[in-house]
Amino acid sequence: MSYILAQDREGNTHNIKAEAGFSLMEILKEANLDIEAVCGGQCVCSTCHIYVEKKWLEQLTDISEEEQVMVEDTGHYEANSRLACQIIWRDDLAGLTLTLAPEF
Ligand code: FES
Repeated sequence: MSYILAQDREGNTHNIKAEAGFSLMEILKEANLDIEAVCGGQCVCSTCHIYVEKKWLEQLTDISEEEQVMVEDTGHYEANSRLACQIIWRDDLAGLTLTLAPEF
């Protein structure tokens, strides 16, 4: 068990417990953050768009072409954009900081 620091769209920071093997999207939803995840993690809706603090980006598995296209299409793309459903939590990511992207 480890933790994530997640900032919501109102600017509040939440310290969320995360269990290895679950996707970030599942973890954020379970913690009642406002993540729609319409497609259920299939990488086709972008409603789980987040910004990962830059120093953590290189610790994550590389972004796939499919995911890259989806985040660029959101209208709120930043260099540190990721889809939370495409990141599987590992305990060595403890302390990762992210921000929910604006809704569509
Ligand atoms: S839940 Fe749909 S793209 Fe992540």
